[in-house]
Amino acid sequence: MAPSRAADMIVEIAPAKINLALHVRARRADGYHEIETLFAFLRDGDVVTLVEAERDSFAMTGPFASALTGEGGNLVLSARDAFAGAFGPLPPLAITLDKRLPVASGIGGGSADAAATLRALARLRGVDWKELADIALALGSDVPACLFGEASRGGGRGERLEPVAGLTDMPVLLVNPGVGVSTAKVFAGWDRIDRGPLEESGPLTAARHGRNDLEPPALAIAPVIAEVVDLLRAQPGVTLARMSGSGATCFALFADRSDAAAARRAISTARPDWWCLESILA
Ligand code: C5P
Repeated sequence: MAPSRAADMIVEIAPAKINLALHVRARRADGYHEIETLFAFLRDGDVVTLVEAERDSFAMTGPFASALTGEGGNLVLSARDAFAGAFGPLPPLAITLDKRLPVASGIGGGSADAAATLRALARLRGVDWKELADIALALGSDVPACLFGEASRGGGRGERLEPVAGLTDMPVLLVNPGVGVSTAKVFAGWDRIDRGPLEESGPLTAARHGRNDLEPPALAIAPVIAEVVDLLRAQPGVTLARMSGSGATCFALFADRSDAAAARRAISTARPDWWCLESILA
């Protein structure tokens, strides 16, 4: 995740986020939900590039750029404006977002892009990005976790973060069946039954013994998610397979990289219309 800087260009990866488990504990008076989750990050993601220019501009490239076109309030620009509001006017910037991950899909997406923008601006202005946690939360519940970008337990709306060890360098496969799911609608469909906390054991054990409480309401909106989870669980060498976040992207962890590669080949052959990404937990 170390940013690179060639001439005046700053390049930040916006790694995909997954929730290895996501327990919803309560609906709050402000409409958000109290969650307990295990965040993990991949080595791959979208890419945000900043370069000083004569005037401000924003462009999107990549396979999922068209899915966002027309959405005025892109979180990258909200992050830029929030940063300028806190730290003073910025020079005109040409910002490019290379959108490599499917949108509205439970793997960070706009939150990761916003967090990468904040890190890039912090670098431009010589600010310690760890000071940006409050700005990050104002942009979205997952933005603080994406700002830090390391495996952690998350509480509150997802912003109370405690780093955890032992979730790095693990082969992972993401599969998305091509349906976008609204996070707000999925949370609204939670049945309000508290099924208990995450275990206090090591993170992988806690994840394996845990759940994603958003799976039932997401399945009610997009039943195809059940097929994705079943297909991932059927692959040889899988140690954990589950839906991430509010869906519809699902993940599988593997002990062995060759099993992850074989699973990707098998799923791409069986469902060529589904999006697959083979990566490693960062
Ligand atoms: O925080 P963010 O804007 O990403 O959340 C999108 C929507 O998801 C919120 O408007 C809310 O409806 C729901 N949400 C929630 N509880 C959380 C996180 C998100 O209810 N902890």
